[in-house]
Amino acid sequence: MSASMPHEDGIDHTISLMREGYLYILNRRRSFNCDVFETRLLGMKAICMGGKEAAEIFYDPEKFQREGAAPHRLVETLFGKKGIQTLDGEHHRRRKEMFMALMSPTNIKELADLVKEEWISAAKKWEQMNEVIFYEEVQKILSTAACRWAGVTVPEDEIKNLPNDLEALFESPAALGPDHWKGRNARNRVEKWVGELINQVRDGKETPPENTALHRFSWFREFDGTLLDTETAAVEVINILRPIVAISIFLNFTLLSLHHYPEEKEKLKVQDDKYAKMFVQEVRRYYPFFPFVSAKVRKGFVWNDFTFEEGTLTYLDLYGTNHDPKIWENPDVFNPERFADWEGSPFGFIPQGGGDYLLGHRCAGEWLTIEVMKVSLDLLVNRMNYEIPDQDLSYSMVSIPSIPHSKIIIKNIKLLD
Ligand code: HEM
Repeated sequence: MSASMPHEDGIDHTISLMREGYLYILNRRRSFNCDVFETRLLGMKAICMGGKEAAEIFYDPEKFQREGAAPHRLVETLFGKKGIQTLDGEHHRRRKEMFMALMSPTNIKELADLVKEEWISAAKKWEQMNEVIFYEEVQKILSTAACRWAGVTVPEDEIKNLPNDLEALFESPAALGPDHWKGRNARNRVEKWVGELINQVRDGKETPPENTALHRFSWFREFDGTLLDTETAAVEVINILRPIVAISIFLNFTLLSLHHYPEEKEKLKVQDDKYAKMFVQEVRRYYPFFPFVSAKVRKGFVWNDFTFEEGTLTYLDLYGTNHDPKIWENPDVFNPERFADWEGSPFGFIPQGGGDYLLGHRCAGEWLTIEVMKVSLDLLVNRMNYEIPDQDLSYSMVSIPSIPHSKIIIKNIKLLD
């Protein structure tokens, strides 16, 4: 390792990471006055980095690989074994094409329409209720819409549990003890019945529509012409269902931002689609969600005089890049206007990863996320009235993922025509 790379002294800094959460890398980039530094995390030497130039090298497939980079606890909960997140090169590209084939404008609109339909039907029930917990209700909506969109028929005895199980997959990776095991158990349960469903499709007993994830992933073939093994196909179908339910986190922050910035809500009532998109982009930039992503140095290289040794685990700071003062003016101010004439860098704005969709690991569901957020924003701004009573709306910068502590209680809900 080059002597000139700033280096955090000490045996291990996992505790500092747990204490400082989303700000861990950013704090050190500031104190070292450098976008890259070396440390030790989870008992291993690691490089942390952030900013536009760092993202550019991180997403260079010649320099970094994903195989062997994801911590075990993430694979056991969030990702699943042998999923796309751990692939490299041609195998990754072929698998990514399978995902991106689902992301046509027509298909994306179909999911947005399903979300709207489920939302309106749920809101009719909310009108009769004293109050509802927005985070939980939205997860039910997204879980039902995701299964319908993916062509997945949920077994009777799983319907009630499914939103909780999918939530546990993205809430448990950083958790300790029972909360972590909840995620592992949920993964085993969901993988089992989704796997059975895939076998039924292959046996001709289930016939999901052709443009659905269940159909496409059941019949996807590797380079050698073989189908994916059942477990891997199930992992990839869950790679569609789980993150759609995770949009609930962004939706909670959307609701929170409307509450904290009422003038924005008034603007949204009279503005067009462009402003709605700017608002959604700012929610994705401003609030904490995915803190960082990891990869391993594929082949040693030198960047800005710093030596990256082969095999070194490297973390790219997503949150910190979205709050980098070299990229964003007043990064800690919520301001949708900043996206009015934003030039659209794939490395400076990376809430769902950066770089290229097919050649790299950038989130396959980013366009889908934006459209689901836009349709939900319209429902919150133009299609319903509600009140937000006094409650603890603060959120942690340490818990990963983070949501407002009360999960946002809303009451006196009224659907508008
Ligand atoms: C809820 C909001 C979402 C966030 C914050 C998010 C974030 C991310 C991040 C940070 C990555 C990793 C990027 C990297 O490794 O460089 C990723 C990858 C991925 N996301 Fe998302 N995502 C979201 C929604 C979705 C949705 C809705 C889908 C699909 C329906 C989806 C499917 C995927 C897939 C398949 C990958 C793996 C891509 C690859 O390895 O090539 N995500 N996402």
